Amino acid sequence: MLANKCCLGGQIGSGVNDVREKPNELVDEGNGGDGLHQIWGKWSRSVSMILETVSSVSVNQDAPPSPLEYFFLLSCPSPSWSSDNVIAQPEPVTSNVEPSKIEPIHRKPRILLAASGSVAAIKFGHLCKCFCEWAEVRAVATKSALHFIDKVTIPEDAILFTDEDEWSHWGKIGDCVLHIEMRRWADIMIIAPLSANTLGKIAGGLCDNLLTSIVRAWDYSKPVFVAPAMNTFMWNNPFTEKHLMSIDELGMTLIPPVTKRLACGDYGNGAMAEPSLINRTIRLFLEKHPLPDSSNW
Ligand SMILES: Cc1cc2nc3c(=O)[nH]c(=O)nc-3n(C[C@H](O)[C@H](O)[C@H](O)COP(=O)(O)O)c2cc1C
Repeated sequence: MLANKCCLGGQIGSGVNDVREKPNELVDEGNGGDGLHQIWGKWSRSVSMILETVSSVSVNQDAPPSPLEYFFLLSCPSPSWSSDNVIAQPEPVTSNVEPSKIEPIHRKPRILLAASGSVAAIKFGHLCKCFCEWAEVRAVATKSALHFIDKVTIPEDAILFTDEDEWSHWGKIGDCVLHIEMRRWADIMIIAPLSANTLGKIAGGLCDNLLTSIVRAWDYSKPVFVAPAMNTFMWNNPFTEKHLMSIDELGMTLIPPVTKRLACGDYGNGAMAEPSLINRTIRLFLEKHPLPDSSNW
């Protein structure tokens, strides 16, 4: 439930978990009621699931895998998936092991960075680079985002996936489904930039590309952060408020846009937060709320 309504038109008083308006709540555990903490409280329940995924790693030693194969080898539950595994299987049943008795696994956090079709996607390569310095990164871009992304700016460590990968990889029942594997792999998802279109689609539950399919399949005990970027007219449009309220209810956290001269020449609110700020925000969040199995990053 939202405590405040969005107040668009300059000042954003959104009920969406807004890291700009409540920066201290990122570090203060005592204030309660904040979406970040609600998200984190739910996170602990996914410990067993993450451990199961990690323990299922199986790499073919004979031939070096392609980037896409590499991703799947790291994330598919079993090299011999049957059709039963693909179709409507429930989440892995959590084990009976008490959380305090689960041994932490030392690995970097797995961060899924996604870009949609805002002009701010020109900064996506830089954003990936920031995160690659301390996390394991996979990147996703929508078809529109690819107009703005110079692929050579994406670091080698951050494998970029597109809608084509989703379809080119899948051939028959039993093959891994990319959006499900990415959702399973990731500890946290960050959509930066978030376009007005993708915001609307997520709010409405639509899933017609890789990015929105991941979100539609997402386990909301794991955090999702969004950094919208759009023209001020779009940002101030009443749809934005409605859609932000919907994604707030899903538990997503807003990294709000800033006011400045936009790419189109207009001056106003709607520019994506700087990559360095996004990076710092997530890093601070994870430092204060470390993943149960990534204590060594
Ligand atoms: C040059 C150009 C710049 C654009 N910039 C933005 C933007 O900053 N924010 C936005 O929400 N949409 C922007 N759009 C519109 C989106 O690209 C369009 O809505 C697209 O369908 C988004 O697709 P996606 O959400 O699947 O990535 C821009 C379009 C063009 C042609």
